[in-house]
Amino acid sequence: MTPPDTLLLPFDDSGIARAAELVLAGEPVAVPTETVYGLAADATNAAAVARIYAAKGRPSFNPLIVHVPDLAAAERLGVFNDDARALVETHWPGPLTIVVPARADNGIAALTTAGLGTIALRVPAHPAMQALLEATGRPLAAPSANASGRISPTRAAHVVASLGGKIALVIDGGATERGIESTIVAATGGEIRLLRRGPIEIDAPLIDSKTSSEGIEAPGMMASHYAPSKPLRLDATEARDGEYLIGFGKVAGDSNLSESGDLTQAAARLFDLLHVADESPKPRISVAPIPDEGIGTALRDRLQRAATPSA
Ligand code: TXA
Ligand code: MG
Repeated sequence: MTPPDTLLLPFDDSGIARAAELVLAGEPVAVPTETVYGLAADATNAAAVARIYAAKGRPSFNPLIVHVPDLAAAERLGVFNDDARALVETHWPGPLTIVVPARADNGIAALTTAGLGTIALRVPAHPAMQALLEATGRPLAAPSANASGRISPTRAAHVVASLGGKIALVIDGGATERGIESTIVAATGGEIRLLRRGPIEIDAPLIDSKTSSEGIEAPGMMASHYAPSKPLRLDATEARDGEYLIGFGKVAGDSNLSESGDLTQAAARLFDLLHVADESPKPRISVAPIPDEGIGTALRDRLQRAATPSA
């Protein structure tokens, strides 16, 4: 089908009503969550999910997170052991995604989970995503609303710049609060494992492409990701020739993630400033040192992938 022009509507009752109509008609729509903007479609409709992959240019082996309104809805789609349930009871609604064994006949399109036999579930806290879940009554598959491999969107304008003309609607709910994607854990048997660092710190062994012997457990965690279109240099204490320096704390730069050195504020601004740097006339980007502690570790992880050239 021919992609329609992209409509931008504010987050209010009529915006959500329009978004719900489109979702029920099988169209993906962009909507804010507390982490980043998501591109949401009916997870039970394979054609709708295929439109997410098409709009993003996403490899179809990379499965999607399914968003649901509450734990009861999550338990209809996946199997929770006691540890898994205790963890989500503490952190939902919020920026935590849990991978659990999928229930047979849960109605979720195989394309959503890339046929893995497991399912990634999240109860988002943002009122816009919550309202869309309620208005559609469907589980919503939603990756970040950006072209595959690019910087995640924390503002509606980022979505329009990346996917404009490819999706029908963007709901504008302002800048997202957390600014980086949810923490992902796996509870698929044995102990809980950490698949992606994020806003919620979980004390569990990290399984990634460097530590996993069975290949990549979260298939989206490729070495190159979140990539701006320009070379990126990390741990920079001053700008070299032609660099747009993203500062932190006392390293001032062209802009600053947090002048007071607050890591939570830095997380909320990271992708935003990467977008600003990417659009600046300077041909290269550098980023000040970020301490490897707390949510800083998740930020360093994102920056490492952003700095890795794609193969
Ligand atoms: O904060 C977020 O999580 C945002 C908002 C929109 O909710 N979504 C998001 O989705 O970041 P996405 O598609 O950009 O990242 C989803 C990650 C990918 O790395 C994917 O490989 C992994 O979740 N994933 C999904 N299902 C999985 C599964 N069954 N097993 C392992 N990893 C899975
Ligand atoms: Mg993403």
